[in-house]
Amino acid sequence: MSDINWQELSKAAEGAYHKAYAPYSKFQVGAAALAQNGKVVCGCNVENASYGLTVCAERNCIAQAVIQGDQEIKGLVVYTETEKLTPPCGACRQVIVEFMDSKAIVKSVNHLGKEKQWTVAELLPSAFTPKDLED
Ligand code: THU
Repeated sequence: MSDINWQELSKAAEGAYHKAYAPYSKFQVGAAALAQNGKVVCGCNVENASYGLTVCAERNCIAQAVIQGDQEIKGLVVYTETEKLTPPCGACRQVIVEFMDSKAIVKSVNHLGKEKQWTVAELLPSAFTPKDLED
């Protein structure tokens, strides 16, 4: 996983953060992922007046990778401008598991240069995965 340019991913996540549509929570989130084909894809949270329809930055980012034709993500960064780092929510963890290896790294970073990282397995231990549909 050392071949990942985390600085570049963090910058891309910061760019996505500035595009977030979060008029209700005012909590903007940006995400960027490195796809298997080397492409960097981004996503931001997109809220809705019907609040429950909100989609998180991570899930929009992963959907973007899939739309670009890449279903394998090597690393993912979540960017917020909060003192406390933002971990992916539960729904996003399940979607992350679908498209990332259990040993792949997810990082949360902020505008102060703080960061924390997890493996996918740490984010969602004992996950229900596509393999569980096989037998
Ligand atoms: N949010 C994300 O985009 N990612 C997360 O992992 C946590 C929550 C968004 C959803 C909503 O627009 C706002 O943050 C507040 O929950």
